[in-house]
Amino acid sequence: MKIVFFDLEDWEVEYFQKRIFNQDVEYYKTSIQETHSDTIYNADIICSFIFSPLGKQTLDKFKKLKLIATMSTGYDHIDMDECAKRNIVVCNVPVYGENTVAEHTFGLILNLSRNIYKAYNRTSKGKFSYDGLIGFDIKNKTLGVLGTGRIGQHVIRIAKGFEMNVVAYDPFPKPELQKTLDFKYITFEELLASSDIITIHIPLNSSTYHLINRDSIQKMKTGAMIINTSRGPIVETNSLLEALGSGKLGGAGLDVLEGEAMIKEEKAVLHQNNDVGREQMATLLQDYALMRMENVIVTPHLAFYSKEGVTRILDATLDNIFDLIENRGIRNKVVVKK
Ligand code: NAI
Repeated sequence: MKIVFFDLEDWEVEYFQKRIFNQDVEYYKTSIQETHSDTIYNADIICSFIFSPLGKQTLDKFKKLKLIATMSTGYDHIDMDECAKRNIVVCNVPVYGENTVAEHTFGLILNLSRNIYKAYNRTSKGKFSYDGLIGFDIKNKTLGVLGTGRIGQHVIRIAKGFEMNVVAYDPFPKPELQKTLDFKYITFEELLASSDIITIHIPLNSSTYHLINRDSIQKMKTGAMIINTSRGPIVETNSLLEALGSGKLGGAGLDVLEGEAMIKEEKAVLHQNNDVGREQMATLLQDYALMRMENVIVTPHLAFYSKEGVTRILDATLDNIFDLIENRGIRNKVVVKK
């Protein structure tokens, strides 16, 4: 089998080299789009990350592709309908670090609630004043958790350690969890109205795109905070920006941004002849405005990025590859719920 890896770091290449033998393997640190080699298109299996979008145009170039093993949980960067038409199986890494993402979620919450990043900026310049740095306790505050899947559940566990009051919304609730994890399911509208901090742990799809928009933000408590470690387009950037500027929202902790792919590729966006539209360019500018705001903390989509979390991703990717090579049932095959 020909296996081609993209989006890898040096240590990850070494990790795979020590574990894959007797196959035709190519390793690239670049994304699929940045890799200029015709040999990649003979791949039976490709393993890549979210930085390699797999839309129709890209898929057209791979003539014998059987498996896409994305090294991520989310698969919204892959055109699943096009894969189905071509009989390409897509598998992901469904479980590798609900604690990893949940821990980062609390990193963002505590950074905002206690102004840690602002205090750090100040002390790094040798200043020790308290001015404007008063924070708030998260104990007894209401945390609204959107999505009680793997990550959402772990967030609830941590929140209970902080003695927070937790409410959650999920269109596919698991009522038994309410007792074991000590929280209450409420409606989406009730969650918006009652939460001091709203944290998003849902997949990006057509029904969650811009779920947080001008209308939903209006229904939130004045001064509430939003945490998004899920996917950028779940939050409509312009409405978020306006609400943070007007004081309707008190702060935002964002590991993901609507235009993050363009930020990463900003040189290409600026210097190449490409079809970045007005709307996308506006989102890019809004992202930069967000990143400059005092009450916003942005991290570059790294909630998953701990040594333990990434090692589990690599191991699960090996399982996915060998499930196909050794003709076993593919355990992490993505089945899209419509
Ligand atoms: P999961 O599939 O275990 O749980 C998702 C939950 O969201 C499910 O319970 C589902 O019923 C619920 N849901 C779906 N639509 C909803 C809606 N409109 N409102 C409320 N709940 C809704 O997924 P998991 O593992 O918890 O991951 C969640 C998301 O986190 C992923 O889809 C991915 O996009 C993102 N993620 C981000 C990472 C990062 O590094 N920033 C790393 C890993 C995942």
